[in-house]
Amino acid sequence: MSTENKPWAGRFTEATDAFVEAFTASVDFDQRLAPHDIQGSIAHATMLERIGILSEKECKTIVQGLEDILTQIGNGDFYWALELEDVHMNIEARLIDRIGDAGKKLHTGRSRNDQVATDVRLFLRAEIDLITAELIHLQMALVSLAECEADTIMPGFTHLQVAQPITFGHHMMAWYEMLDRDRDRLSDCRKRVNIMPLGAAALAGTSYPLDRNLTAELLGFSCPAANSLDAVSDRDFAIEFAACASLIMMHLSRFSEELILWNSAQFGFIDLPDAFCTGSSIMPQKKNPDVPELVRGKSGRVFGHLFALLTLMKSQPLAYNKDNQEDKEPLFDTVDTLKHCLRAFTDMMPHVSPNRANLYEAAKKGYATATDLADYLVRKGVPFRDAHDIVGKAVRLGVDTRRDLSEISLPELQLFSASIGSDVYEVLMLEGSVGARDLIGGTAPKRVREAARLARQELEKAMQS
Ligand code: ARG
Repeated sequence: MSTENKPWAGRFTEATDAFVEAFTASVDFDQRLAPHDIQGSIAHATMLERIGILSEKECKTIVQGLEDILTQIGNGDFYWALELEDVHMNIEARLIDRIGDAGKKLHTGRSRNDQVATDVRLFLRAEIDLITAELIHLQMALVSLAECEADTIMPGFTHLQVAQPITFGHHMMAWYEMLDRDRDRLSDCRKRVNIMPLGAAALAGTSYPLDRNLTAELLGFSCPAANSLDAVSDRDFAIEFAACASLIMMHLSRFSEELILWNSAQFGFIDLPDAFCTGSSIMPQKKNPDVPELVRGKSGRVFGHLFALLTLMKSQPLAYNKDNQEDKEPLFDTVDTLKHCLRAFTDMMPHVSPNRANLYEAAKKGYATATDLADYLVRKGVPFRDAHDIVGKAVRLGVDTRRDLSEISLPELQLFSASIGSDVYEVLMLEGSVGARDLIGGTAPKRVREAARLARQELEKAMQS
């Protein structure tokens, strides 16, 4: 390949080695940044005109040329040349081809180093907004389920053993809370993404009197980056995003695991819609929960990207290094994977139907109201440790005779403690047990409805902003 078409041809006497050219190129993947690259260039040109570096006519020609290129790219008519290495040089070269000398002025006071950092930030900001919207939709679906199933009793687990009865709605609202923190983290991350590198140039700033505030304003950034070295080199904002994404995927993997268990014949808690399952090529009876399984699996891939980005950044000396070109593929795949997984969940959750009868039976089977019986005894003046022991004996009788606590007769219960009266059955009933947990954050249907109401309000507010 000749050196002729490279911007640095003047300095070089030898052509780039063909393998090195392919090895160092990023255009295959960074072409995805094109709309942001063009947006950044238009703002840069507009600012150059305001400070008198470009004439009005030159600026107009540049902006028109860039818009035409954007259309061409959108139509798939743009030829991406490997020898032009990356998205930035491809677009600039095409601009010069199209409009001539004015195009050669666009790169005044700019380097690919501040350009790429700007592009990645613009890209990520837009994606954070899309992901946030998707999170809100998923949260809405959970709130709707919680409202419908506020009275649906199911076993709550610790150690995957039946612990205490809860409501299905309460369980859905637990997932809602996790996603709410995820959304909060993303919006915090967005603040640090939304800072503008342009003007940092290669690393030291530039001698042109750029109006960085104006460029920042044109691009919707909150402010220009305060230090040029930092602006072109750090990718901590991308790492932070990958950490937020990892936490979301960790949460989705937990939801997935529960859906998979609940959908099994052994649990029989829910039915996943056919449209979200696949069959087996050999076992005709199978209906596999592929969507949650895949989401669970994809969490590993996103955690991997977080580590790739951390390792990429680790020990890099200031300022820009070519290492940073490696930020794009993990970042893009993090965004895509996360969006697909959220979309799958948002589409699936409204079709998840709980089997109320099975959930109720399962709660009954596990002596889920044992704690309620102990609390009942405490209210009658029995010290908690003694109460714990008394209930343990009653449970053993239930196990031996295959009965739930509520199915044991009063005289039999009174053999364990004289403090037990006929009012005990209110607390032994599952409805009484969940109803009694009527405090902030508790599983009582009343509380669940209230939590869902507040959540819906919050989401509606968030949708408007
Ligand atoms: N393709 C490069 C990247 O992704 C753009 C910046 C290149 N700068 C440089 N001095 N080689 O980081």
